[in-house]
Amino acid sequence: MNRFEFDLLVANGPSDEAELAASLLIAFARGVLLRKEHFDLVLTGGSTPIPLYSRLAAQHKRAIEWNRVRFFWGDERDVPPDHLDSNFRSANKTLLRPLGIRSENVFRIPAGGKSAVEAAAEYEATLKNLFSGIPDFDYVLLGIGEDGHIASLFPDARESWESAEREGRWVAASWVPHLAAQRITLLPSLLNHGLKVCILASGTRKSNIIREFFGREFLGREVFGSDPAAEHRYPAQLIHSRYGKPLWLLDREAASGLEISQAA
Ligand code: 6PG
Repeated sequence: MNRFEFDLLVANGPSDEAELAASLLIAFARGVLLRKEHFDLVLTGGSTPIPLYSRLAAQHKRAIEWNRVRFFWGDERDVPPDHLDSNFRSANKTLLRPLGIRSENVFRIPAGGKSAVEAAAEYEATLKNLFSGIPDFDYVLLGIGEDGHIASLFPDARESWESAEREGRWVAASWVPHLAAQRITLLPSLLNHGLKVCILASGTRKSNIIREFFGREFLGREVFGSDPAAEHRYPAQLIHSRYGKPLWLLDREAASGLEISQAA
């Protein structure tokens, strides 16, 4: 893909963004569940999705057959599942447990109690057993970091995950220098194989990266063609979705750096 194309929605505030994100996800899931047994959903970590997870559990309990949803993660910290930093822990607390999701539909990245390399290899094997060929996830939720990272594809760990991608891996352990920590992450080839990718960003602390990312520099030009350096500026630029365009869902604070005219 050599054009940076996307759909961009801006909600008023975090709760509007959560409701919009929930409604879009539910609508997409209903469509998928008309023709497939399962809706394969990749969750993102961090704090941004928590209002969405809580909203789904509180307001959309009867919106779809949640027992037909299989849950995966785009990345995980190198910590046990009960650790405060665990992406599994926060999703389990705000979404899975409140919805009564059965454990056989929860595919946690097995971090903690083994090395990050072993956890990555084990998760990749789990995905290979579950899917015949590269996983065709139906919906991939992602967040973006202030440095333009996505999942745990960090700019300062590029060599580690780019080499894993070149080797044809799906999941990699990646030492992140500025965090002085290992992360486990799905690689761009897998994230991009999602039927629909939705990237969430909220709050003023994301306004700089959003402005940089969507500013004049990228709108309307070929990002991966005319400026090779641009390709390696932000890992998030590597993200697109198998069909259609990635959906970027922001709140007004995260979008405050963009020159968006007030909706009529
Ligand atoms: C993680 C996430 C990561 C996150 C961004 C944004 O493990 O932290 O997967 O990619 O989406 O860092 O984090 P916030 O939502 O906390 O701003």
